[in-house]
Amino acid sequence: MNDPASPLQIVVLLSGSGTTLQAIIDEIRSGNINVEINAVISDQPDATGLTRAENVGIQTCALLPRDYPDRQGFDHALASCIDRYKPQYIVLAGYMRILGKSFVERFAGKILNIHPSLLPRFRGLDTYARVLEAGDAEHGTSVHFVTAELDGGPLIMQARVKVLDGDDEESLSARVKERERKMYPAVLNMLAAKRIEMKDGQAWLDDKPLEKPMEFDLSR
Ligand code: GRF
Repeated sequence: MNDPASPLQIVVLLSGSGTTLQAIIDEIRSGNINVEINAVISDQPDATGLTRAENVGIQTCALLPRDYPDRQGFDHALASCIDRYKPQYIVLAGYMRILGKSFVERFAGKILNIHPSLLPRFRGLDTYARVLEAGDAEHGTSVHFVTAELDGGPLIMQARVKVLDGDDEESLSARVKERERKMYPAVLNMLAAKRIEMKDGQAWLDDKPLEKPMEFDLSR
């Protein structure tokens, strides 16, 4: 075990704009969380998230799926790339590619994701459109450990928002993302403090199995 006071070493995987990455960077630079980003890796060479990393001197790497014959070949290259940076955790932040079973098993309990819904509701894509279509009274976002089941791993923390009359995807996602930007760094800081782990296929908090996800309150 590392010294609990030493920063949590992470590698971030992303495909897009990287506002989630930026939130983590901002919290690190403000001294609010004990985390260090060893590298940012993308499957999209022109992802804005890579530029955000480069802007603050974080190492980056783009791995293109089309350069590999199949998913297994790509996942193997991705795993080798990640290993070079020796992270304690792999943090998915808008990474749009499904990770294969052998990849997930190789890093079992060491991969985190943030998904914009109150899981297990609305796994997969287009959660904002789907929640509005369904007429749910609330929506939100979830941080969970990644397993081979898509958006199905043990839940750690969730943030809820009310769906308001007149909400569209843009207004709803703005409120959810406001929470994501604080919640994900907060979970990473709890990992750094060794308060959270995945064991026996479930999330644990302070050495006890987490019966239900923690609730994130933005005003905290
Ligand atoms: C986040 O809203 C997260 O919920 C989902 O992907 C989005 C990433 O956005 N997994 P960005 O690329 O970080 O701006």
